[in-house]
Amino acid sequence: MVYKILLFCALLFAISGCQIKQKSNFDGEKLLKQKCAQCHNLDLPPKTFQDEKAPPMMAVAFHIKDFIKASSTSDKIPKAIDFVKDYVIYPSAAKSFCDKKSLKSYGVMPSQKGKVTQDELQAIAEYMFAHYTVKNMNDAQNLQNKLNAMPAGHRIALQHNCLSCHKTGKDLVGPSFHKIALRYKSNLQSIEKSIKNGSTKKWKGYHGVMMPAFGKKLSDKEIKTLAQWIQNH
Ligand code: HEC
Ligand code: HEC
Repeated sequence: MVYKILLFCALLFAISGCQIKQKSNFDGEKLLKQKCAQCHNLDLPPKTFQDEKAPPMMAVAFHIKDFIKASSTSDKIPKAIDFVKDYVIYPSAAKSFCDKKSLKSYGVMPSQKGKVTQDELQAIAEYMFAHYTVKNMNDAQNLQNKLNAMPAGHRIALQHNCLSCHKTGKDLVGPSFHKIALRYKSNLQSIEKSIKNGSTKKWKGYHGVMMPAFGKKLSDKEIKTLAQWIQNH
């Protein structure tokens, strides 16, 4: 009986394992990271580096959409996808939409023949033209501007989910930043220590709930910035 259960489990694992594998094979975003990121910068919008090996993927997607010849707008994306599927396997200076000067400094892209299949390229290209759009770029830029306008402590708190457990003036899963600031008015180090190592049983009413440790995710400098920001509440 035990043997049968084990066999059943193994079978189930094999089937679900296969399914997971097949799905990830055609996850355009994942494949782009695996197969193209060693040369192309995938950020949206991209940061530019002095010695980049290839144009950022956003620039590639914009280029192709701008320059590809298509009889109608609805024909544009399928044509653009076909271009990517061909170019990655058979790249050439004549086909490239890269401007002459950049092409000279990068050199023509080495063919990726044997490293990526046509089905994988289909998924990659579909993802590229859905992800690298002017709308997504503007949204990302607006979000970045919003984050940049915040005090650094607020930004770190938002990015590391502190705000899902803490609010300024109201107790949530954890005590309010207001109460924490009152308790540790002149004790920055205690705040830093709790962010770094986590905390439990220091606050009545929160027994049993752990404040998670952030020492592995945040630098000492980020922890200090956060602690000072909390103290100012
Ligand atoms: C070994 C580095 C390298 C890898 C890996 C690489 N590329 Fe490139 N790619 C380049 C360089 C360099 C250029 C710019 C020169 C050119 O246009 O050929 C380029 C250009 C391109 C262009 C043409 C851009 C244009 O404006 O015409 C496309 C499309 C492209 N890459 C797609 C991909 C995709 C998709 C992948 C992943 C499957 C990939 N590349 C992987 C180096 C690379
Ligand atoms: C999962 C919910 C949760 C998250 C996420 C969380 N906290 Fe807490 N936090 C708590 C709880 C619960 C307590 C009360 C713990 C106790 O009683 O010692 C607490 C307590 C604290 C304290 C006071 C600790 C002390 O020594 O008295 C500080 C400071 C604090 N949190 C900061 C942060 C910061 C900064 C972040 C994000 C980097 C964060 N917390 C993320 C739940 C959370």
